[in-house]
Amino acid sequence: MADEDKYPSETGRRRFVKGVVGAGSLAAVGTGAAAAINTATSPTGAGGGITTFKGIANTDGPAPRGMPIVPVEIQDDGTIKGVWPEVKEVEEAGRTIQIAEMELGGVTYTSEWFQYCGVQTYAGIQPSYESDNLFKSAPSPPYAWQEEVYGEGDPINIRDFQDYRTFSTGIGKAGLGKPAMCTWRSEEGENTIPVQVLRAPQVERLAQEDEFMAAATDQGVMAWLDKCTHFCCVPAYKAYAQSANFGAANKVYCQCHQSVYDPFEIVEKSFVALPRPE
Ligand code: FES
Repeated sequence: MADEDKYPSETGRRRFVKGVVGAGSLAAVGTGAAAAINTATSPTGAGGGITTFKGIANTDGPAPRGMPIVPVEIQDDGTIKGVWPEVKEVEEAGRTIQIAEMELGGVTYTSEWFQYCGVQTYAGIQPSYESDNLFKSAPSPPYAWQEEVYGEGDPINIRDFQDYRTFSTGIGKAGLGKPAMCTWRSEEGENTIPVQVLRAPQVERLAQEDEFMAAATDQGVMAWLDKCTHFCCVPAYKAYAQSANFGAANKVYCQCHQSVYDPFEIVEKSFVALPRPE
């Protein structure tokens, strides 16, 4: 993974991002520390601070927390869309700023869930960024089926996931769903937001058991922002043979430093979301 993906901005920004990431571990300490962080960051950005999100669990390796869920909606034509929260204007420290936020499945779903690893600087994370919000096939996906069916930028479609109950990527067990690697809200192309999409019988089960997953999934399809919370590489579900060496053949595995995530274990976590540049 290129360095700019870990710290994707110019030198000045990099110092700033690193400082806040370091301070992020204070999130669990209490609101006093968090208020200090917010005060320190507010002059240089908008819409950061303590955020509670729903994500797929980090089960092994150095990553500090799970990766956030992107709620999905399947359109009438079968294309699959990531739900973007409603855009609102709020007062923050005497200024009017835009936020994207909505109630979904019993939690507050906000664009702040995705404001880490430099994504907070991407055009697509701006609340009012214009996008069709469709998940589009990523360049060089790690799945042979996806390379055969789609070209880069093609919207993925539920009709191509019909074999999700028996599908095998060739890694680990079959029958644990059909994955695709996508981009989202990245029409301008310079910084692409990576999203992993997965249609699995296990997701249908989660939707029956969990209010949030009932609202955030559709026909057994789920998605998450695919930025490892360790150093921002792009992990993948059942894509890499070496994942078996780390007990991750049936999980989401990050090749950079062997973090492992379980897409079927949904957790609620807090972290300090980084502010968007103005
Ligand atoms: S484990 Fe280090 S970037 Fe993913």
